[in-house]
Amino acid sequence: MDSLYGNLKKNQYSDYYPFHMPGHKRNLPGRPMESFYGIDITEIDGFDNLHCPGGILQEMRERAAVLFGAEESFLMVNGSTGGILSAVSAVFRGGDTILMARNCHKAVYHSVYLNRLKTEYLYPTFVKEYNICGGISSGKVSEMLTENPEIKGVLLTSPTYDGVVSDIASIVRVAHERKVPVIVDEAHGAHFCLDSRFPESAVACGADLVIQSIHKTLPSFTQTAVLHVQGTLVDRDRLKRFLQIYQTSSPSYILMAGMDQCLSILETERENLCHSFFKRDKMFCDSTKELRNINILSMDNQFKKEYYIVAVDPGKKILSVKGTNCTGQQLYKLLLEKYHLQPEMAAQDYVTAILTVCDKEEGVQRLADALQEIDIGLQRVPDEEFPSVTGCAGTACYDIHYAMDAEYESIPLKDAAGKISAGFINIYPPGIPLIVPGEYFTEDIVRQIRRYKTQGFTVEGMTGKGQQVSIIKEEKNAQNKNCLYDRTCQ
Ligand SMILES: Cc1ncc(COP(=O)(O)O)c(C=O)c1O
Repeated sequence: MDSLYGNLKKNQYSDYYPFHMPGHKRNLPGRPMESFYGIDITEIDGFDNLHCPGGILQEMRERAAVLFGAEESFLMVNGSTGGILSAVSAVFRGGDTILMARNCHKAVYHSVYLNRLKTEYLYPTFVKEYNICGGISSGKVSEMLTENPEIKGVLLTSPTYDGVVSDIASIVRVAHERKVPVIVDEAHGAHFCLDSRFPESAVACGADLVIQSIHKTLPSFTQTAVLHVQGTLVDRDRLKRFLQIYQTSSPSYILMAGMDQCLSILETERENLCHSFFKRDKMFCDSTKELRNINILSMDNQFKKEYYIVAVDPGKKILSVKGTNCTGQQLYKLLLEKYHLQPEMAAQDYVTAILTVCDKEEGVQRLADALQEIDIGLQRVPDEEFPSVTGCAGTACYDIHYAMDAEYESIPLKDAAGKISAGFINIYPPGIPLIVPGEYFTEDIVRQIRRYKTQGFTVEGMTGKGQQVSIIKEEKNAQNKNCLYDRTCQ
């Protein structure tokens, strides 16, 4: 069978003249990116249709299902974002209640807004040793489902952006006892299915819908993702309907040819790739185990009991400088400017480095060497408390859609405490809302936002040249039937 790329190349050099989109007509000779234009087509004869596949794209879907161990898989060109929007819309109807982890990515919140859902939150534990979110307890899921029988589905992120994996199998078990489907945002865990040394994937744990950004951790182009569905709790026709709504009607064949290649690489080289990954990982762990000041997150026996963490992704290296005279941003800058190593991101207390099956040994060794050198120059200092980025229980007053669509005004951040937010404020990355529409600005949140801004983090959602926040013009709305909670939460 020819690859999609092979077919696109054949088409490029054939004598079929294009009286179709795209407008560049594959005719920009001598221009930059000429080779990309050459294979950039739309759904012409012989190239199938992403939204109604029956040929090469259908075969790719079937291959993806085998590779990822799912009953049925869908290819997506709009990232996990499109998959999350589709999955949530398939499971819930307007006004339904979702039980979701409060540390979900903004895409989940956007799906809640678009579907006008009511939210019940699962607050993750907080791993104080690293200042990161821990896991979600299946006991808590069970308790919430019992207390709130109106809940129509559960959604959580596992692994988190920091590589923390929750006990999905147990969560699925307690949800399925009540016939409630579980959606897992596994955007950062597409590689889990490749080898048993990685944490167990949410698909293997029986989750009903699993969304994975293959572009994040596998050899695939940015924007590409897959969505898996299994079991009988999800209406698959409804899911297909929403995949059509949330994805472009003109999917890029460059991206899809890249997905085809990603599948082929994994089908044929998975064992070797994983073998080399774990060899590099061992080398990295061995070279950094003697560090005295930089702590690297790894699974700890206590984690399971205390933080409901069942595994930590070996592909995420959380390089913590907590309790030293260095901040996460300083370590990031040092790695970037002195060692020419580009990390994924910096948080207050740590830097995240991503390792995948496509790394070079030399790159990973350079990171280990740099950390050894940096570690020697660090000193321990008294630790400073830095709160979680995931809001806190009891501050929600209105449904997200109500607050987002209410009349609003912009006020200076300094005056926001006690007011109700009309928008999301996210620290990016990771894109988890610090405050969501309908929640109160507490003194703590205002302080946190100010601090993130002073420290140079990207704070999304501020208005008025980044100094203001939107709050709902309320009081008159307090009696509105959409009011989620009694205002006593103030
Ligand atoms: C946990 C999580 N979910 C979903 C997304 C959205 O993924 P994508 O960028 O593929 O749309 C991200 C992106 O960073 C993420 O971190």
